[in-house]
Formats: sequence, structure tokens, C-alpha cells
Amino acid sequence: MQTTNTKRGQFTTKIGIIMASAGSAVGLGNIWRFPYETGENGGAAFILIYLACVLFIGMPIVISEFVIGRRGKVNTSGAFRVLAPGTPWYMVGMLGVLTGIIILGYYTVVAGWTLEYIMQAAIGGFAGKSPADFQSSFVEFSSHSFRPLLWLAIFMFMTHYIVVSGVEKGIERYSKIMMPMLLVIMLVLVGCSISLPGASKGLEFLLKPDFSKVDGSVLMSAMGQAFFSLSIGMGCLCTYSSYFKRDVNLARTALSVVSLDTLVAILAGLIIFPAAFSVNIQPDTGPSLIFVTLPNVFQQAFGSMPILSWVFSVMFYLLLSVAALTSTISLHEVVTAYLKEEFKISRKKAAWIVTLFCLGLGVIASLSLGEWEEAKVFGMSFFDFSDYITTKIMMPIGGILISVFVGWWMDKKDLKDEMMSSGELKKSFFKVFAFVLKYVVPLGIAILFINGMGWM
Ligand code: PFF
Repeated sequence: MQTTNTKRGQFTTKIGIIMASAGSAVGLGNIWRFPYETGENGGAAFILIYLACVLFIGMPIVISEFVIGRRGKVNTSGAFRVLAPGTPWYMVGMLGVLTGIIILGYYTVVAGWTLEYIMQAAIGGFAGKSPADFQSSFVEFSSHSFRPLLWLAIFMFMTHYIVVSGVEKGIERYSKIMMPMLLVIMLVLVGCSISLPGASKGLEFLLKPDFSKVDGSVLMSAMGQAFFSLSIGMGCLCTYSSYFKRDVNLARTALSVVSLDTLVAILAGLIIFPAAFSVNIQPDTGPSLIFVTLPNVFQQAFGSMPILSWVFSVMFYLLLSVAALTSTISLHEVVTAYLKEEFKISRKKAAWIVTLFCLGLGVIASLSLGEWEEAKVFGMSFFDFSDYITTKIMMPIGGILISVFVGWWMDKKDLKDEMMSSGELKKSFFKVFAFVLKYVVPLGIAILFINGMGWM
């Protein structure tokens, strides 16, 4: 199957490129998953390990994926085929496509929850409730057999619509407006949260590391979170960079995306933990953490001004769902671009296949939290299993293969050419980058992985 480069879309402006890539990276991973993983893994020590993973493993992989995608100019699997013809490397791309399919299924379930919360916020459903009420409403809602499915379907079709409208019109335009709005509203919420009574304990939890509880599983969780949050190890950024122009500076773009992503995660932590400690919600509550904690913030921080509480809660969930949308779009795009280009079908048809298949997976994931609770996969609900296998196994394996491909297999001249396409890069930077990519990334992932699996 030969792929063609003709008539592909392109992102048009540099800021649009950064926003679209950051739009993929910033999402539920930062605002929903990062806080509860931090809470379950002990707080500040986890965050420091996470930051090290982002810097030494995440950043080099982001650059590598950009290089592969822009050089190949096709979907992720096709890009490996273009760069390494006649070898099995294209299978790394296929692994990424499979990872994308699984993530899109369960991710859209949570994205659907955000729609329910927009509605609840809008109709004043938080008013007069206690922290315990928020907890029970969440459990009742997420295990309900119909409502979450309805929101899931709505979210999946919104994603579908934008992916079908194409790269320039759909993805870039939406990301450019919404990302900055999200940042502003998060800053305001940080202010609200840290001024709640008893918030300082939450800050301590975030800032005072206790390494005594760090074990292999904490290390693996931190690495998994870095992969998930940065959208790496599965060809998502390869797919996006295949739409980048030559004059985009890949290292600088990577730095902007990684910094923004990290900033949003830290802000989310600064919103959630002071508030959680203030109303006595346990930090290790798990996936319900933000859905139970945040309504309290809106209630208490603006208690005397219900209108402000209304505005902020509606805006927050709205922007959270938009952040989730720019991520589901990127997940969908990985699979759609693959089907379209590898099987020579129309964009529309490819998108329909992805939408319907992932909707099916999403339904199973959603029901596995309620009606089908008894059915376990390796002792986990299908929802938890989808999260576990992708973030802790498939993405890290993808990450090792990508770093080995760019660090060891790819021609140095090609790598330099891509990295210097928009001007000279400092020689010393390139040397350090090549070293980290060749040794630190694959060995680091392997060690954390083996440790986390308890094999060492
Ligand atoms: N990075 C996204 C988030 O943090 O919400 C999730 C994600 C998007 C993972 C796209 C993987 C991906 F390809």
C-alpha cells in the first residue's frame, strides 16, 4: 500500500500549530487524571518524579515524534514506512493506532461526564449540597445505565463532526481560541481554592515531598501520566506534525507544548488539593476526585455571590469539555488519518468507522462502572483496564521504540535536517539531545517499566 502526499491539509499559522498540539496534550489528563494520580501516589514526591519523566523522557519523545511526522508527511504508520521502507518499523505506527482506539473509547466516557456537569452547573444543581451529597450524586450518575451513555454519544459525535471538517478549519480554529480562555479561568480558580479555610494542608501535600512511600508502582504511574498527558508514545504528535510546514522550529514548539501542558497540570493540582483538604475529601478518592471536589469550590468560594458561582462553574466545565474535545479530536485523527491513507478510503468513511467502533468501546467502558461492574478484565473494570494497558504498557513500549528509531536507526543527517529546518541549532544542544534520546530515554523507560512490573 503506497501512501500519497498530495492534497493533505496543513496547519497554517505557527501559533495555531502550538495551540493544536497543546490542545491535544492539554485535556482530561491534566485536569482530571493528574490530580487523582497525584492523590493516589502520595503528592509532592510523585509530582517531582513526574516532572523528571516529562523533562528527560517526555520532551525528547515529543521532538522525535515531530521529526518522524514531518519527515514522513503521512499518518503515523505510513511515516515509519516512508522513513524505513521494507522494514517492520511501520508496526510501531500500528501499535499507536491501536492505543489511540482504546484511549478514545474510555476517554470519551469521562469527557461525557463533563457535559453532565455543565448541565448541572447551568441549572443550579450544585446549590445547597454538602460534600457528601456531591460524592453520592457522582456515584449515582456515573453508574447509571443510560445517562452517561447519552453524553458519551453526544461527545463522540461532536468529535466526529470536527474531524470530518478537516484539519485547518476544524482543529486549528477551535484550539486557538479556547486554550487561552481555559488558562485564565484556571488562574482565577487557583486564587479561589487557596483562599478557602484549611487550604494550606493541601498546599503542603503538593509541595512537601515524602519519598518514603515511593515504590516501583509510583514510578510507573508517574511515567504513565507523563506519556498520557503529553499524548506521546502512540504517534499522535507524529500525525499532527505531518501537517506542520518546514519553517516550524520543532524543538521550540516541543518546549512550548511541554511547558503549557505542565503548567495546566500544576494549576489543576493547585485548584484541587487545597479545596479537597479544605472540605475533608481524601486525596486518594480516585477518578471521581475533580467531580466531587470542584463543586465545593464553586459553592464555598462564591457562596455569598451565587451569580459568580454560576458563571464560574458553567465556564469551568465548559472549558474542561473543550479541552477534552481538542484531545479527543487528536486521538480520532490518528486513527482516521491511518485508515484514510492506508486503505485509500474517504476521510468521511474513515471517520465513521472510528466513531462507531470507539463508541462501542466507550459504552462497554461506561457500563463497566455500573451495570456490568461484576465483569472484570485481569481483575479490573474494563474502564480501568483500558487506562492501565494504554498508559502503563502500550505508550511506554511505543516510547522506547520511537526513541530507538530516531536515536539509533534514523540517518543522523535527516534528523539534523529536520531539526534545523528553521535555522541553525546550537551544536551542544543537538549533542545533548542525541545522547538523551539514544541512552537516557530507552533505558529510563525500561528501568521504570521493569521496576513497576515488579520484575526487579
Ligand atoms: N494528552 C491528553 C490529555 O492529557 O488529556 C490525552 C491524550 C490525547 C492522550 C491524545 C493521547 C493522545 F494521543
